[in-house]
Amino acid sequence: MQATAIAQPNIALIKYWGKRDIARNLPAVGSISITLSDLYTSIEVQLDETLGEDSLSINGVAEQRSLPRMSACLENILGTERAHARIISECNFPMAAGLASSASSFAAATVAAAIAGGLPLSTAEMAGLAGRASGSAARSLYGGFAELRNDENSIRVEQLCDKDAWPLRVVVAITESGPKHTGSTDAMEISRQTSPFYSSWVAQQDDDLAVARMAIEQRDFSALAAIAEHNCLKMHSVMWASRPAITYWNAATMRCMETIRSLQNEGRGVFFTIDAGPQIKAVCLPEDEEAVAEALAATSGVQSTMRCGLGDAARVVV
Ligand code: DP6
Repeated sequence: MQATAIAQPNIALIKYWGKRDIARNLPAVGSISITLSDLYTSIEVQLDETLGEDSLSINGVAEQRSLPRMSACLENILGTERAHARIISECNFPMAAGLASSASSFAAATVAAAIAGGLPLSTAEMAGLAGRASGSAARSLYGGFAELRNDENSIRVEQLCDKDAWPLRVVVAITESGPKHTGSTDAMEISRQTSPFYSSWVAQQDDDLAVARMAIEQRDFSALAAIAEHNCLKMHSVMWASRPAITYWNAATMRCMETIRSLQNEGRGVFFTIDAGPQIKAVCLPEDEEAVAEALAATSGVQSTMRCGLGDAARVVV
C-alpha cells in the first residue's frame, strides 16, 4: 500500500493553452514537449486505512494549498472509497515559477498512486489520469519528445523520438524565484473567455504541430527553432491581449531573448521558449551549450542557470 515514483518536468515546444472541457481537464489544443533530465519530483504515496485525512509534505514542509488538487488526483485514480494517504513529495527545483513542477508532481503522483493501489495500468492509461490532474503532466509519462493529441473526448500521448535519438540540451535561466502571480489553470481560462486572439490560436495549432512533428522526425533544428519560438510568442500574445492582461515576463526575460537572438546571429544552434513564468528555457545543440550557458549567465537580471538534457519517462523507484 505504499509506492514511490519519480517524474521529470517537461517543457512544451508547441504549447497547451486553453481547455475544451474544464470538468475533465481536456485541452483545447494538442502539444509537443521535451521531458528534461536532472530536474525531478519524487512522490511517495502511503495508503493507510487508519488515517482520517490526506496529508501532503513538500521538501519536508506540510503543504495545505496544493493538497485538495493532489487528493482529487488520487481519488480519480483510486476511487472515492480509497484509504487516505500520506503524500511525501521532494522536488529539486523551484516550484510554481513556470518550471512545470505541476507536470512532474502529478505524473509522479499518478504512477505512485497506481502502484500503491495495486492497479495494473498501462502508460497510456496513466497519462490519461495524470492529464486529468494537470494537462502537461500527461506528457511526463514519456521520455524524450512527446506529443499530446487532443481527440474529441480524451487525450492520447505518444513518444515522437527517444531522448538519445536527438540529444538536445536545455539551459534554463532563472530570472525570478518566487511563485507566479496567476496559476496557468486560471490564466488559460481568462484567455479563453476574453482574448480576441484565442480562437485563431486554437485554429492554427494543428498546423504548428505538423511543422514541429516533421522537424523532429527530420532532426531539423532550424525548423524546430522557428516553429517553437513562433508558437511560444503566439501563446504569450493570447495572454497579453486577455482582460485582465496576463504577463509573465520581466525585464530580464526580454534581455535573455535578446541574448538568444545575438547567439543565433553568431550561428549558434539555440532557441527560446517561455511558459507561465518569467524563466527562459534555451533549447540548444550540444556543441553550443557552453556558449549559451555563459551568455545567459552574463545577462543582467539572470539569478542562476541550470543545465539539463532530455529526460526519461515517469517511473517507480524500487
Ligand atoms: C504554459 O498543465 O499547468 O506550461 O492542466 O490547468 O494544470 P493545467 O495546466 P498546466 O499548463 C501548462 C501550460 C504551459 C504550456 C505547456 O506546458 O504546454
